[in-house]
Amino acid sequence: MSDTQKRGAILISGRGSNMVSLLHAAEEKDFPVTFDLVISDKIEAAGLGHATAAGVRTHALRALRQGQAAWEEELQQVLDEAKIDLICLAGFMRLLSARFVERWAGKILNIHPSLLPHFPGLNAQAQALDAGVSEAGCTVHVVTAEMDAGPVLGQARVPVNAGDSVDALSARILGEEHRLYPAMVAKYVHDNWLTEDTIHAG
Ligand code: GRF
Repeated sequence: MSDTQKRGAILISGRGSNMVSLLHAAEEKDFPVTFDLVISDKIEAAGLGHATAAGVRTHALRALRQGQAAWEEELQQVLDEAKIDLICLAGFMRLLSARFVERWAGKILNIHPSLLPHFPGLNAQAQALDAGVSEAGCTVHVVTAEMDAGPVLGQARVPVNAGDSVDALSARILGEEHRLYPAMVAKYVHDNWLTEDTIHAG
């Protein structure tokens, strides 16, 4: 890890293909983030296995039974222990409280499979098909307390083809997600931290 690199954690709930694309991008030595930790809210998330195979430390959070506040305390503790600077949500299906998001203001990013502000929330690709749009895509944004509503860092567009199924459209969007997310993470860290660090160091 170089002096200017930030420590990142990736939060997942499922298969983790965006996580894999971030881990892959971070293998490049000029990528400004090292991903030291993958956290899942589901012990059975397939992405945990991929993270372990890639040599990244994983942590599965205990069930929400204990209540949202205690659950987020555990999350905070794991992030603090690993001295994490930046959180990337990648298919993380749980809402974070306003308190947690404010504590991490400007330091949580998310990828969503629609051209926000259109189709926030669940099943964005199905929402796009139902709306009959001719174009869909994905958005990387900064996470704020309001779901899928924070400042947009970048978007990628794909056509909606006649007769598209949800699976076909989702796969087309996912290909763009895998390119967009690492690129936007790198740009965000460069634009917001590295210049500042360089100035301070100078
Ligand atoms: C992606 O479509 C992402 O945009 C959304 O959830 C899906 C996660 O897929 N938030 P994966 O776990 O990264 O493969």
